[in-house]
Amino acid sequence: MKSLFLKKLNYLTNKNILLAVTGGIAAYKSAEIVRKLKKEGSNVRVVMTKSSQEFITPLTLQALSGNPVKIELLDPKSEEAMGHIELSRWADVMLIAPCTANTVAKLASGEGDDLLSTVTLAYEGTLILAPAMNQVMWRDARTQKNIKKLKKEGTIICGPASGEQACGEVGPGRMVEPEEILKNLSLIFDTEKLSGKKVLITAGPTQEPIDPVRYISNRSSGKMGFSLAEAALEAGAKVVLISGPVSLDCPKNVHLVKIKTAEEMLKSVMHHVKDSDIFISTAAVADYRPKFPKESKIKKLRTKKSISLEMNETTDILREVSNLKEKPFVVGFAAETDNLLKNSQEKLRKKKLDLVVGNDVSSEEIGFDSDYNEVLLITNEEEIFVKKCSKTILSRKIIKFISNKLK
Ligand code: CTP
Repeated sequence: MKSLFLKKLNYLTNKNILLAVTGGIAAYKSAEIVRKLKKEGSNVRVVMTKSSQEFITPLTLQALSGNPVKIELLDPKSEEAMGHIELSRWADVMLIAPCTANTVAKLASGEGDDLLSTVTLAYEGTLILAPAMNQVMWRDARTQKNIKKLKKEGTIICGPASGEQACGEVGPGRMVEPEEILKNLSLIFDTEKLSGKKVLITAGPTQEPIDPVRYISNRSSGKMGFSLAEAALEAGAKVVLISGPVSLDCPKNVHLVKIKTAEEMLKSVMHHVKDSDIFISTAAVADYRPKFPKESKIKKLRTKKSISLEMNETTDILREVSNLKEKPFVVGFAAETDNLLKNSQEKLRKKKLDLVVGNDVSSEEIGFDSDYNEVLLITNEEEIFVKKCSKTILSRKIIKFISNKLK
């Protein structure tokens, strides 16, 4: 048991941990968190709120972390070196410990009036909170509503613990011990999540020929599928990526199968799915293909002002996989312009999926050719909103979500 714990802690080596300290009596324990993280080989930077300095001095945390502690939002000196945007980009994970009821409320409502709240708003990665407050404040319906909202947005809530409080009362609200916090942090970097698993991913558009020089296709860039392949690889999986024509580099060690048509994609998927544990269908497969593709180039006829093309429905590859007797964990994507939740839920049900990733493609900033996306992760039990982030970070979140489901 002990060796397992020690092995997990190794995941913190060389990781950039941004610790934010807010004003609660447990703030003195943040010194112990920094000390333990440094011992594990993490790079630690600390942000403090004004009130936290009543409980512990910036100098203590500066000495322990080996880095200047950030306090002010608009500090010309620190903006020059590492300002709030750089801090949020630097962090592999952001930990708020202790996190007061006030900070919980500010995070839930998206306020940005000091350094901590601004960094959090600009931060795209995993956020972990260790709440610490009086037990009545913790139980308060408004705090619970805020916590529920943050959880739904993907924030990890670590604790609180129950027991005797600094104010003399007994109940839930105490910050969990630094050791427990480190254990939770190391789980985020558990890179072995999918070791021994095979992940099959489809990506990109398909091209359906009209004649030897023309085809019907769509605007899919393949970015989502390629970055999911990378995230699955990072998590220790064996990855097969079946992709339509895209201009992306394939991650090293991913087995890439290049196809053009929906028919070719179907064949390849049915071949590779047999021993797969997870199937992720990000491809924008053509729903119809020309019924009679011509063998020679169609010539323009001056006598014809309009022409029509007869099309046949293609096979729904995702549905074929879901209907297999021995099927993997099946993940579909729903690209919607209206009623995202309702339409995605319907896809989950109709296509018998384990997870549907719903995204709104009506916005130019996210979806198709963008490097960013904002999605809803929908299963039969829950809906999780993942706010706008890079496709790399989103992919890690999706892979983590799937691996937790597999457990
Ligand atoms: N898909 C597939 N094979 C097809 C069509 C779609 O595997 N021939 C997969 C996509 O990769 C995606 C999911 O099905 O994961 C949803 O595709 P979408 O085109 O949005 O769904 P449709 O069922 O075609 O519904 P609609 O176009 O009406 O939204």
